[in-house]
Amino acid sequence: MSAPEPIPLAKPVIGERERELVDEVLRSGQLSLGPMVRRFEEMWAERVGVAYAVATSSGTAGLHLCFDALGLGPGDEVVTSSFSFVASSNSIVYGGATPVFAEVDENTFNMDPAAVEAAITPRTKALLIVDIFGYPAEIPALVDIAERHGLGIVEDACQSIDGAYDGRKLGSFGHPAVFGFYANKQMTTAEGGIVLTDDEALYKRLKSTSNQGRSDDGAWLVHSRLGFNYRLSDVHSAIGVAQLERLSDMMAARSRVAGWYQDRVAEIDGVIPMYEGPQPRSWFVYAPRLVPGTDRDEVIRRLEPHGVFAKPYLPCIHLQPYYREVHGHRPGELPVTEAISASTIALPFFPEMTHAQVDRVCDALSRVLAEVAPAAAG
Ligand SMILES: Cc1ncc(COP(=O)(O)O)c(C=O)c1O
Repeated sequence: MSAPEPIPLAKPVIGERERELVDEVLRSGQLSLGPMVRRFEEMWAERVGVAYAVATSSGTAGLHLCFDALGLGPGDEVVTSSFSFVASSNSIVYGGATPVFAEVDENTFNMDPAAVEAAITPRTKALLIVDIFGYPAEIPALVDIAERHGLGIVEDACQSIDGAYDGRKLGSFGHPAVFGFYANKQMTTAEGGIVLTDDEALYKRLKSTSNQGRSDDGAWLVHSRLGFNYRLSDVHSAIGVAQLERLSDMMAARSRVAGWYQDRVAEIDGVIPMYEGPQPRSWFVYAPRLVPGTDRDEVIRRLEPHGVFAKPYLPCIHLQPYYREVHGHRPGELPVTEAISASTIALPFFPEMTHAQVDRVCDALSRVLAEVAPAAAG
């Protein structure tokens, strides 16, 4: 019997339009600091309804620039979520500030506002709001906390491209928000990110710091502050423009695939479908929970011969070796976050996935779970 056709975990949709625009840039001879970057930034600003967008070489770079602009340093604390990709928290650490992790909500997997409030100390200077798995955080409640305590806000919306809260687009809430365009995201530039803001002074600063700290008037080789090379190239922006032109279609395709999964997963013993709450989810990953006691690693191992590639996703940030060794974090600090992180499993998920592929994944999962009975139930 031949091996089943593998179903990848994620797959970008790249077509003729991307090739056409990349070719346009290559033929133009202007590969960086050119018109395609401006076009990409303008399209994003218009889509979100903000005055400014600053394209960056990655989502991480965008987050780092936002914290650099807040001017935080050693002794300052930023309250954030440990249920995120490590770059969230690293962007706080780069400037010497300390991330303080607040517990997350069991359903949304985003920071619980009451836990955020409890984590605030006289050293707290900002909140890093994370919208994980495409579901928006409790933004109004978190903004209210930040205002009451005089804190800055940065929003890591890297996983929530095109997301919204109460009909208002992420990125338009008055604090800078960052999207990421790595190849597994809702849209990609291969590597890249963007910061959205309405604040002209912040925009000018980000433009400067992303471009080696050049002076605001763009003077040639005058560096008025310490900056970075966090520019997005025109080649990457060309991919982004093409992707953005059909982002709505790709998002609709993701929602359709997620709907198939939700229906099937609800019928499988031992799996908890993804939360569907009052806010729309910008579908990024399909990562349901396995019931407590299930040997997730064994499930993942046994899915592979079925051609199904799955991953444990996401590991807690505070339990990463660096955060244990350098920041002294230990298991047991965040029971809800740790329980979620130990049970979520990312299944293959991409816009061009077919209904038959979703069925194949779910059939395999169902069979494997019957073999690997949870210890708790056994
Ligand atoms: C929540 C979150 N924050 C930050 C990032 C960093 O983005 P990038 O990989 O573009 O640097 C990612 C990307 O995977 C992410 O998922």
